[in-house]
Amino acid sequence: MSFITLVDRPGAMYDSYGRHLHYLRVSLTDACNLRCVYCMPEDMVFRKQASLLQYEELLLLVRVAASLGVDKIRLTGGEPTVRRGVVDLVRGIKSVPGIRRLTMTTNGVRLAELAAPLAEAGLDQVNISIDSLDPARFRQITRRGDLEDVWQGLIAAEAAGLEPIKINCVVTRGFNDGDVVDLARLTFEHPWDVRFIELMPFGKVSDFQHSQVVPSTETRARIEVAFGPLIAMPGWDGHDPARPYGLPGAQGRLGFISSVSEPFCEGCTRLRLTADGKLRLCLLRDDEADLLTPLRAGADFATLRQLMADAAYHKPWGHRLETEEIPLSREMSQIGG
Ligand code: 5AD
Ligand code: SF4
Repeated sequence: MSFITLVDRPGAMYDSYGRHLHYLRVSLTDACNLRCVYCMPEDMVFRKQASLLQYEELLLLVRVAASLGVDKIRLTGGEPTVRRGVVDLVRGIKSVPGIRRLTMTTNGVRLAELAAPLAEAGLDQVNISIDSLDPARFRQITRRGDLEDVWQGLIAAEAAGLEPIKINCVVTRGFNDGDVVDLARLTFEHPWDVRFIELMPFGKVSDFQHSQVVPSTETRARIEVAFGPLIAMPGWDGHDPARPYGLPGAQGRLGFISSVSEPFCEGCTRLRLTADGKLRLCLLRDDEADLLTPLRAGADFATLRQLMADAAYHKPWGHRLETEEIPLSREMSQIGG
């Protein structure tokens, strides 16, 4: 980072490694209407609504973040669409000056009814998680999901203009490692991005250890056996963890998010706000700054702004998922992916 860059972006957040932090992932709730096997235990208990950031609190923290140069927000969960008032939250966040792009990662179950109102409220785009196109296997992975609901949700999202449609598939050995070919095939018929995510072996969901991780190289090889060589696509900015590839003759693109085999910490511009009001500095580290407590104790805008900028400065570097299991204090659903 040069001095010039700092001068060019007064008030922007940088960490001690010079990474410019301008993308905030906001978890609206830790609750979910599914129970994916790699994400949470079947008997997961969710937080009480009162311990979550309330509408005005959330909006205040988004304003604070925007004043520090955050221009892009992705709403996550658990499942963001099960949060009461999600459409109003979208409207509120999108109207904060400085927030240029507002997106959401969702399981798609509620999108058939919500895609149009969310788009109207200002949502720009959705990533939809689909791990298998086989209804029985989809049910097995999600423990309670109905693939048809998600498919209708995806169609509704496309009709509402929440584009480009991106599909996220977490590849889990013994569950859906063979399904990647069918998912990749979707890109021939649709202008969608299909992204394959390496399972991150979090300590807590103990059935899912390193043995379930399928490296991206293996997923790529499977797809190439079916369709021929993948072509690296131009226009990758280095910040998206999914480098885009295409199949000859396809309309959509493929991506591989190799969190385990090829960590992408260098290009990371992200911070996370958990549903209970903690600024989480890295998905895979437990370093967090509590913003909810000072906020409820009456801290003013300038104080919160200083707290956020100071915490961001200490964003840690990287992880060693390939050698260590990560014993996190939160489940994935309590961070938001
Ligand atoms: N490893 C990788 N991805 C995960 N997700 C949930 N748990 C894990 C995990 N252990 C994904 C979901 C969704 C996104 C929010 O995070 O499938 O696409
Ligand atoms: Fe819910 Fe997403 Fe976790 Fe599945 S991965 S249980 S959809 S939060």
